[in-house]
Amino acid sequence: MIWTIFLLCQAALLYFILTHRTRSKSEPPLDKGVIPWLGHALEFGKDASKFLNRMKLKHGDIFTVRVAGRYVTILLDPHSYDSIINDSESLDFTRYAQVLMERIFNLRLPYHQPAKEKAMMKQHFLGGNFTALNSTMSRHLQALLKAEMPGNQKDWKEEGLFNFSYGTLFKAGYLTLFGGEQNNNSTDPLKVYKEYRVFDGLLTKMARGTLKPEEKRTAQTVRQRLWELLAQAGLTEDSGSNPWLHAYRRLLQEEGADEEMQKRAILMQLWATQGNVGPAAFWLLGFLLTNPEALTAVRREFNTISHTETSEACLLDGPVNTPVFDSALEETLRLTAASFITREVVQEKTFHMANGQEYLLRRGDRVCLFPFNSPQMDHEIYHEPQKYKYDRFLNEDGSVMRDFYKGGKRLKYYTMPWGAGANGCVGKQFAINTIRQFVYMVLTNFDLELCDPNAQMPDVNPGRYGFGMLQPEGDLLVRYKTRNTH
Ligand code: HEM
Repeated sequence: MIWTIFLLCQAALLYFILTHRTRSKSEPPLDKGVIPWLGHALEFGKDASKFLNRMKLKHGDIFTVRVAGRYVTILLDPHSYDSIINDSESLDFTRYAQVLMERIFNLRLPYHQPAKEKAMMKQHFLGGNFTALNSTMSRHLQALLKAEMPGNQKDWKEEGLFNFSYGTLFKAGYLTLFGGEQNNNSTDPLKVYKEYRVFDGLLTKMARGTLKPEEKRTAQTVRQRLWELLAQAGLTEDSGSNPWLHAYRRLLQEEGADEEMQKRAILMQLWATQGNVGPAAFWLLGFLLTNPEALTAVRREFNTISHTETSEACLLDGPVNTPVFDSALEETLRLTAASFITREVVQEKTFHMANGQEYLLRRGDRVCLFPFNSPQMDHEIYHEPQKYKYDRFLNEDGSVMRDFYKGGKRLKYYTMPWGAGANGCVGKQFAINTIRQFVYMVLTNFDLELCDPNAQMPDVNPGRYGFGMLQPEGDLLVRYKTRNTH
């Protein structure tokens, strides 16, 4: 009995020594929360945006919080973001990315070469292949929308807008990059989509390690099924996948990844390339439908293009000038793109804020920027930041608005849906083109309207803050039918 008490005391002392931390004067304000070890993890995971706003009111633009045993320094001053984004010496991007890879995809790549991977991706998504990529995407989108609503069908079809947008874009993206031709030996995109949505629904909990036992079983089963469905993707040159995927497979083999690990890595790429576009298109179409003035302006712009171009392909594949659409999309992403930008401190760093203050960042801590709270939803920068204003990023003369201020100083980063710096999104241009193609096709081919003309946009699922595009809680019911053009 005495021994048990002695050992318990020793364990408690050791725990105290290991987790005890006090703030030195040169460090950001420290807020450990009241729960031992967990700290603020529960509140953070439940609604990160709300939690970080609460902390900002308490501590200001920089503070350190304890989250499940880790210390994370949060920075919310966009004027100071560059000092974090551009420092690849003291701050490391890959370590935290590897933690997520392991938690979500059960993936370990011991000889991982992220720089090479990225260069290869750039070559395929930005280089000479860009036009071909867009026309393949356009072809698949057209075919899928036609199949959704055959020309001879005159009745309204009802569906949730989120499922319609995510489903169509996921299937088209899957066929473009992973699957090859529809009904041609490749895995049925609908089957992959259905499994993927289950996986996606559990993704944030996998990342945080908060799955309940039953959810853990579902996650394992669905992951296994997706690995099987993706087993052939990119395996050979004639597998029907995009050349990028085949090159990626070769790189994985070079890195010593066996077939099992390759399948897991392919699922990760499915998430990176398909997880954001569908939700972004949903929010955009939803905002347009619930803001008639915005819908009219975008339609008007599309109409002028349709009249000046000889075929749809001209609009969709090449560079196009659509400032109204671009502003409507930028405004959508301001309200709904909510990634964390996270780095691990690998050597102690003195961090200089734009206002002249200096802070010491401790080795082993993480640093996290959350552009959703600031700049994107910052009322010092945007008037009525909660409101959708399709022309917020347009000047009166119709040119692009780039002048936004905080504290009287012009901002370099006034919205950051694509991240920034060396780790910014490689697929940005492809994603923008895809969303533009999709919205154009839907608005020109279909009559699309809200089932309930007074419906409002659904709330966001607050558990998804930090993981790319937000998703709605519930859906927005719409109906559509083939447009009568005569
Ligand atoms: C609306 C759509 C999209 C949004 C909002 C988005 C957003 C982002 C963000 C914020 C990052 C940076 C993550 C970080 O700093 O940790 C990122 C990275 C990345 N994105 Fe996107 N993305 C989108 C679509 C796409 C598409 C369509 C592709 C490819 C076809 C793609 C490929 C990638 C890749 C490969 C990375 C990782 C870059 C790296 O490793 O440094 N994204 N994306």
